[in-house]
Amino acid sequence: MPIEFAERIRRIPVYPAADGYALPGDVALLASNESPYPPIPAVVDAVAAALGGLNRYPDPTNAALRSALSDRYGVPVHRIAVGNGSCDILLAAGEALLEPGAELVYAWPSFSVYPHLAAASGARGIQVPVDDAHRHDLDAMLREITAATRLVIVCNPNNPTSTALPLAEIEAFVRAVPRHVAVILDEAYCEFNLLQDADESIALLDRHPNLALLRTFSKVYGLCGLRVGFALCGSEDFRTAVDQVRQPFFCNAAAQAAAVEALKHQDEVARRVERNLAERLELQDGLRRLGIEPAESQANFVWFDLPEGTDERDTIAALAQQGVLVRAGAALGREGALRVTVGTEAENAKLVSALGALLA
Ligand SMILES: Cc1ncc(COP(=O)(O)O)c(C=O)c1O
Repeated sequence: MPIEFAERIRRIPVYPAADGYALPGDVALLASNESPYPPIPAVVDAVAAALGGLNRYPDPTNAALRSALSDRYGVPVHRIAVGNGSCDILLAAGEALLEPGAELVYAWPSFSVYPHLAAASGARGIQVPVDDAHRHDLDAMLREITAATRLVIVCNPNNPTSTALPLAEIEAFVRAVPRHVAVILDEAYCEFNLLQDADESIALLDRHPNLALLRTFSKVYGLCGLRVGFALCGSEDFRTAVDQVRQPFFCNAAAQAAAVEALKHQDEVARRVERNLAERLELQDGLRRLGIEPAESQANFVWFDLPEGTDERDTIAALAQQGVLVRAGAALGREGALRVTVGTEAENAKLVSALGALLA
C-alpha cells in the first residue's frame, strides 16, 4: 500500500525551477533572476566569522538584523519580520491568513509561489490576468475582493512580466481594499525600479496597517545562496502571526551575519544596481535588434514573446545546448514567452547571439 498523503499535497504546484545547473562548461545562468555579481567581500568575511559559532543555534529573535533593518528603513523593530528568504515569510503569511473558504487574490502571470499559498491552505486562489502591457490590472483585482478575501498580493515590479505600476496607483488600490484584508506588496525587485525610489513605499505603512512590504537580500544584495529576506509590516500583529506559524530559528546564523553586514554597504549596492540597469538597456537593445519587443522592464530581468511560430520549449532547449539558461514563459503563465535575467555584459551578449542564430 502506498503512503497516504494529505489531500493538499496533490494540489501544491511544483516550483518551476530551472534545471541544467549541471551542464558542463561556461553556462550563463539567466533563469532565476539572481545577481550576476559575487557577494561584497566584507559580507563574505562576516559569513566566515559567523561559521566559528555554528555549534550554537542562531539568535531566534534575529535582534541584530532587525535592529539594522530598523535603522536603515525607519520602521520599528516590532514591525519587522525576517525569514529564510522572503518566500519563507510569504508561505507563513499564507498559513497564518488562509484556510478553506477563504480567498487569495493576485495577478497572473506573477510569482510562481503565490499559487502554492492557496493550494497548501485549501483557500481559493483568484488569479487576475495582467493587462495588455503586462501590468497588474488593479481595478479588476479590486472587483475580485469579496467578504471571503483574506489576502491580496501585489508584486511590484512584477515577476515574471518585469513591469511596475506607479506607487500612487498602488496606494489608491490599498486604500480601496477593506482594512481587515491583508495586502502584501512584494518588492523583491524594487531597487531596480526607475519609476520610484526603493524607500518611497515605506511611508504607506503608517497609513495602511494591513499592508506588509516584502523585501529580500537575494537579488540586489546577491545573497540568494544563503536565503534571507524580510517584511516591513504595517502592524505588529502581522509580524507576530508570521513568526508564530514557523519553526524556531528560521533564519540561520550565517544569513543573519551576512545581511547585517550587507546593509552597511549601500554605496556598493547602488553601484551594482547602476551596472545592472546599464546592462538591462543593452540587453533590451540587443533583443530589439532581433525584432523582439520586451515588456517595459523595471526589474533585473526582461520578459518577451517569441516571434509567432517559434516553439518555446525547442528554443529553451537549444539555448541550454549553447550554455544559456532562461526561464520558460509557459511555466509562468504565458505560452511562447521567455523570461531572461540581466547577466553580465558577456552573458547578455551570449544570449542575444545564441537567440539571434536560432531565430535566423
Ligand atoms: C517576486 C518575488 N518574490 C519573492 C521572491 C523570493 O525571494 P527569496 O525567497 O529568495 O527572498 C522572489 C524570488 O525569485 C520573487 O521573484
